[in-house]
Amino acid sequence: MGELDNKAVEAAYARWAPVYDLAFTAVMGPGRRAAVAASERPGGMILDVGVGTGLELPMWSGQTRIVGVDLSEPMLRKAQERVGRDRLANVAGLCVMDATRLAFPDCCFDAVVAPYVMTVVPDPQATLDELARVLKPGGEIVLVNHVGADRGLRARAEAWLGRHGARLGWRPEFPFAVIGDWIDARPDMTLAERRALPPLELFTLTRIRKAAAA
Ligand SMILES: C[S@@+](CC[C@H](N)C(=O)[O-])C[C@H]1O[C@@H](n2cnc3c(N)ncnc32)[C@H](O)[C@@H]1O
Repeated sequence: MGELDNKAVEAAYARWAPVYDLAFTAVMGPGRRAAVAASERPGGMILDVGVGTGLELPMWSGQTRIVGVDLSEPMLRKAQERVGRDRLANVAGLCVMDATRLAFPDCCFDAVVAPYVMTVVPDPQATLDELARVLKPGGEIVLVNHVGADRGLRARAEAWLGRHGARLGWRPEFPFAVIGDWIDARPDMTLAERRALPPLELFTLTRIRKAAAA
């Protein structure tokens, strides 16, 4: 899947960090709000994977505690500034961490969110395995990401952009099957919701539920 690796991602987001909020606050706002609404757990603990500059952090209620992780230190520094500026006392921690090697025990988060991350991580299915590992039974993984078009002008534009994926820092071509096949292969996980989001149904919200403990 593309030529992304952690080094390319880190280099891309070191470039994006100073201008990220300017470029991506508005267009990706509806998806962040949808991810937060789906994962709101007053009294619970949420893991935000690929938290970036923390644009979604002020959207949770003060009763939901959040831990954010990201591969990119420059992006996390921006998130840390936001936490201080907005006095987000419910943010329990922000750590540099690879989503495929989370330093958390099994089954410790009530929900795991990853807004606009699955098209960025080099290995989406290994990432989903790790998100599922740290999720409590009965909890949900909430994803928001662009799903590539099957055909037409948009598919051709995405294929062209895809050749520059490593430099951009994301994969414009991303079939839903990457997520769907992973769910099908996991007897403990079910698709709870798949919904197109504005603007122009460019993004998709996916909720994946982990079976409750027997
Ligand atoms: C498009 S940004 C999304 C940031 C934020 N969630 C938002 O809604 O604006 C993708 C983020 O995923 C991070 N990322 C990419 N690969 C990662 C990995 N393997 N582990 C942790 N974070 C990763 C990038 O550094 C970047 O900050």
